[in-house]
Amino acid sequence: EGLARFDNERMVDFTVAAERGAFPAAIARIRDSFGTTYPLYINGQDITTTDTMESYNPARTNEVLGHICQAGTEEIEQAIVAAKKALPAWRDTPPAERAEYMMKAAQYMRENIFDMSALQVLEVGKQWDQAYADLGEAIDFLEYYAREMIRLGKPRRMGHAPGEMSLYQYRPKGIAAVIAPWNFPLAISCGMTAGAIVTGNCVLFKPSGLSSIVGYGLVEAFKAVGLPDGVFNYTPGRSSIMGDYLVEHKDVNMIAFTGSMEVGLRIMHKAAVPAPGQIHCKKVIAEMGGKNALIVDDDAELDEAVSNTLYSAFGFQGQKCSACSRVIVLDAVYDKFVGRLVEAARSIKLGASENPANYMGPVVDRNAQKSIMEYVELARKEGNILLERMPEDVDLDKGCYVPLTIVDGITPEHRIAQEEVFGPLLAVMRAKDFDQALDYANSTKFALTGGLFSRSPKHLERARTEFHVGNLYLNRNNTGALVERHPFGGYNMSGIGSKAGGPDYLLQFMDPYTVCENT
Ligand code: NAD
Ligand code: ALA
Repeated sequence: EGLARFDNERMVDFTVAAERGAFPAAIARIRDSFGTTYPLYINGQDITTTDTMESYNPARTNEVLGHICQAGTEEIEQAIVAAKKALPAWRDTPPAERAEYMMKAAQYMRENIFDMSALQVLEVGKQWDQAYADLGEAIDFLEYYAREMIRLGKPRRMGHAPGEMSLYQYRPKGIAAVIAPWNFPLAISCGMTAGAIVTGNCVLFKPSGLSSIVGYGLVEAFKAVGLPDGVFNYTPGRSSIMGDYLVEHKDVNMIAFTGSMEVGLRIMHKAAVPAPGQIHCKKVIAEMGGKNALIVDDDAELDEAVSNTLYSAFGFQGQKCSACSRVIVLDAVYDKFVGRLVEAARSIKLGASENPANYMGPVVDRNAQKSIMEYVELARKEGNILLERMPEDVDLDKGCYVPLTIVDGITPEHRIAQEEVFGPLLAVMRAKDFDQALDYANSTKFALTGGLFSRSPKHLERARTEFHVGNLYLNRNNTGALVERHPFGGYNMSGIGSKAGGPDYLLQFMDPYTVCENT
């Protein structure tokens, strides 16, 4: 109660020497921790398993960060028992007290922000600033959802009939499985987990196998703040062994998932079938992929459009659900814009993310590298490659590098215009007029982010209603949604559920109920 107004966590400016000074030492500290085995965390206990998985640096695949114990079905069962045991007391803990734990966890992350960011640079190849921003977003989720729970935790009187007190309030759903991706390895994990916990649920958290050490940061934070045993359980595991088991479990009330469309659809399908003994419908929140477009109008400010397209398409190697993978350019400015874009992309530095001078680094692992290379070959067949650039000063055999690729001659019929590549491959599409540009933009099954660079009030107005995406950005880049300021999420095949970092998000983790008393 009485928390100060929410504000986003301050970003650092790594161009200022004093601000970047702490980062190299943090990277060295993380290197010193290499070789650690990370246990599961169930019912407040560290649990080791014989099955472990290693996590490596995508810039140097022979550099192993650590080994992560893997939950099998037995450990999932153990965690469910723990969560069930912890649930009644946690559910009955006043919302303001639950919020207090989130505020303290935010403070823990703030105090460890450099080390936790440096870990992301080494585990998933994020650039320094992108890693730091991920920490900032994790902190924002904790701080914002704490306040949101205090707001929603007060029963609301409904109606005004004399002699009647009708109260509308919320109770948690119960046990939440949180299944997270690797690309915003702390922020998204933390957002879904904090959403579940602050609303009174107990959590089984399954991070991605590619970012399980970053995911372990949640164990450290919740341990540090003394969250009661069993409320948060860390259960990384091989999805082929425990994925369906977790999703189908009769005691799991809800699943908060962020990841690919394929896995999201599978989870929805599995969760729809009640297991023997299950007495509830499972709720699924699924935030999935995108095939996001930026439109460059014929009167756009081209310098802005070029730099923002570059950042939206190639920031973190294009591995953001929000990333721009199609730029749709009006015929009248096509040659000018595309020429400048290619020159700008030619001038940026490519190489390991550990060096902050590099704009673009390795992709997350060998599988991602292989899949993206297949799409580069497809792009070669479907269009004309305008630029295909590999980093020059790295060991290409050791790192998971792919070229920065720009391809034009793409129309909506091409697979490159429809499928999520999840890498640094940008398709350029020529539109004869604004109508066609909007048609192209809306021509995929996804509806996540989109943007328009234009100075025409009429076109900006049309985009507001006719550009079908969950997050529309006008005259700016289309990534980097901030908690509260830009509630984030899509629809159609980009997902189901309300927006992360928005005012309806927590409602999804609770069931509303009404108590009416004659007084
Ligand atoms: P992914 O779907 O491969 O994996 C996501 C999580 O699901 C991982 O923890 C994975 O281990 C788990 N998983 C895989 N199979 C499972 C199964 N059968 N049962 C249960 N869990 C299973 O996605 P990813 O590669 O980690 O992330 C990239 C994808 O995530 C992209 O498609 C991207 O667009 C999407 N994404 C969406 C958002 C959003 O907010 N809309 C945000 C970030 C990423
Ligand atoms: N919330 C992340 C972004 O907006 C995915 O880029």
